[in-house]
Amino acid sequence: MVCLGNICRSPLAEGILKSKLPHSTFLIDSAGTAAYHIGSAPDPRSEAIASKNGLNISHLKGRQFEVSDFDHFDYIYVMDQSNYDNVVKLARTNQDISKVDLILNKVHPGKNYDVPDPYYGGTEGFKNVYKMLDEACDVIAKELA
Ligand code: 4NP
Repeated sequence: MVCLGNICRSPLAEGILKSKLPHSTFLIDSAGTAAYHIGSAPDPRSEAIASKNGLNISHLKGRQFEVSDFDHFDYIYVMDQSNYDNVVKLARTNQDISKVDLILNKVHPGKNYDVPDPYYGGTEGFKNVYKMLDEACDVIAKELA
């Protein structure tokens, strides 16, 4: 799960997908394309909406997406078009590129909708993001399971 800062959207996506798949079988992680928040805990608003839905993501720590992630993961879900462009810039092969998709394409195939960045908005934005990610993760979990 990849967003810009790895403190708002992608840690939520990580926590949600982890809650829908067995830990023993699936390696699920998140990262940001930027280095701003390396080592930081998720945004308190993401922690709050996760907690409201029974998930604890407070132990997660921000990290930056790296080229080796293409080797460690089969699927790389990005939150918006700018994340997509930044990740694809690091791809070495067409196979790397084929692993990357906008996460909302799981719910709206081919539409290329963004999960809006909630960082500069209020709590309503985080609620909205949670709902979008929960729907997308339902589809992903069903496919992978
Ligand atoms: P995220 O949100 O990409 O969903 O983690 C953001 C977090 C921090 C910043 C931007 C977006 N920032 O500019 O610091």
